[in-house]
Amino acid sequence: MRLLLVAYPGAGKGTQAAKLAVHYGIAQLSSGELLRAEVARGTRIGKVAADYLTRGDLVPDELVFEMLSAPLLEAASNGGYVLDGFPRTLRQAEVAYSVAQEIKDVELQAVVYLRVSHDELLKRLRTRADRDGRTDDDEVTIANRFKVFETQTEPLLDFYSRRGILLDINGEQRVGDVFRDVTSAVDSLHI
Ligand code: AP5
Ligand code: MG
Repeated sequence: MRLLLVAYPGAGKGTQAAKLAVHYGIAQLSSGELLRAEVARGTRIGKVAADYLTRGDLVPDELVFEMLSAPLLEAASNGGYVLDGFPRTLRQAEVAYSVAQEIKDVELQAVVYLRVSHDELLKRLRTRADRDGRTDDDEVTIANRFKVFETQTEPLLDFYSRRGILLDINGEQRVGDVFRDVTSAVDSLHI
């Protein structure tokens, strides 16, 4: 099982990815979580990525590829993965797709889009800001992350829709109801 979650900041990618990983017994690979861990450990990748994360801009592709290639290939050969946050641009998707063409059983089988209104996204991110204090959950950075999604990530939806693997899910429900809809859509693909 090889899945990708694409959605606006705060839509529930991380929340659903964790549940899907347990449910299907696959690895969860969250590019944002991995980048934050690199920053916390002060690695070479983390040192370059830190400013991008703070601004809510995308980290340069090469760093993301470097960080994710090995875990992604390993997960693919160990039952599969649920990706949260990568690919995030058309270029990332095209590079990942062309690499995957060369290797058996690595390419994505389904892409889940979680549809959530802007009002609800803001509400969730503000609640999380008060609770967790993630450094990119302030108002200015949230606005930039929304703009980055709109301009750089949204075109992915078309890309995957044309390949016939996009599942459009109502993400504005309780966590358990979103999860039920995602799993039933994925299961109906008989992967
Ligand atoms: P990333 O970590 O991916 O952040 P994001 O896309 O902004 O998304 P979030 O993690 O904020 O939200 P989420 O959709 O995971 O929602 P969550 O489940 O947490 O990326 C961060 C940064 O890393 C980027 O800005 C960029 O700099 C860099 N980066 C990452 N990937 C990259 C890439 N491929 N290339 C280049 N740069 C990259 O839920 C949000 C909140 O709502 C939580 O508090 C949760 O408890 C709550 N919640 C969840 N579901 C529900 C529900 N159904 N009802 C009510 N509350 C809910
Ligand atoms: Mg997340």
